[in-house]
Amino acid sequence: MQDLRAALEGAEVGFVPTMGYLHEGHLSLVRRAREENGTVVVSVFVNPLQFGPNEDYQRYPRDLERDARLARAAGADLLFAPEVAEVYPEGFATRVVLTGGLVERWEGAHRPGHFDGVATVVAKLFNMVRPRRAYFGEKDYQQLQVIRRLVRDLNFPVEVVGVPTVREPDGLALSSRNVYLTPERRAQATVLYRALVAARRVAEAGGTVQEALAAGERVLAEVPEFQPDYFAIVHPETLEPLEAWVPGARGIGAGRFPEVRLIDNLEVYPR
Ligand code: PAJ
Repeated sequence: MQDLRAALEGAEVGFVPTMGYLHEGHLSLVRRAREENGTVVVSVFVNPLQFGPNEDYQRYPRDLERDARLARAAGADLLFAPEVAEVYPEGFATRVVLTGGLVERWEGAHRPGHFDGVATVVAKLFNMVRPRRAYFGEKDYQQLQVIRRLVRDLNFPVEVVGVPTVREPDGLALSSRNVYLTPERRAQATVLYRALVAARRVAEAGGTVQEALAAGERVLAEVPEFQPDYFAIVHPETLEPLEAWVPGARGIGAGRFPEVRLIDNLEVYPR
């Protein structure tokens, strides 16, 4: 990859890092990159460093041939799919570690070490691909803010572009992990989105942050099989919980069914 990139010297590269099993959410990132860059690189790498010991690294869905076909059709020039031993060879001993509230809260609290694993692989991928722009989904809203922080803090000459979440017609955010959903679960899985929409409705009707939160929590309580990890209304950049509305305030939530963990977010207060 680094040799290829060196041969492309002068090219404006748009980069879409993924863990594969591509869906329309990933492909919206690829299409956006296609519009804005001369060369588009997509990576597919299920990064062991960002999975906890009891998470789904082993069973994470994989289908590289299908990914290659979809990435090409969406406009990718190059698909980079390294082996684990290539990315983390024998003796690998360096980590990118973030500190402070942005990584300690929410996903960071429920998935210790997760964001360090993400930041480490993204820093490595940036150094290998040397993109001018990199595309990340708002679906993983905290990850997007962590990447923005990483790029500022370590002076990566990369413009980070956030892309809106692609959803199923009933509101469920597309995710590679949705393949874990049984038909019965699939019907219940909109609960998180519906909770976020309920919070947004209260905000739009002039309610307080506390009232919007309560409305969301009532929706979550209707599906007892769903165990929320957190549901909060936060500042769009710091992700600190809000006492009162600020423009762009985000509702964020995550939780678990027995066989799958869901995560979602929505702007609940207009910018
Ligand atoms: P992955 O979950 O494969 O997601 C790759 C990119 O696609 C991320 O930026 C994610 O936010 C975005 N994405 C996923 N579902 C989306 C949807 N429904 N709408 C819009 N964008 C969506 O996120 C990762 O991989 C990894 O942590 C990675 C950044 C590749 C580092 O390993």
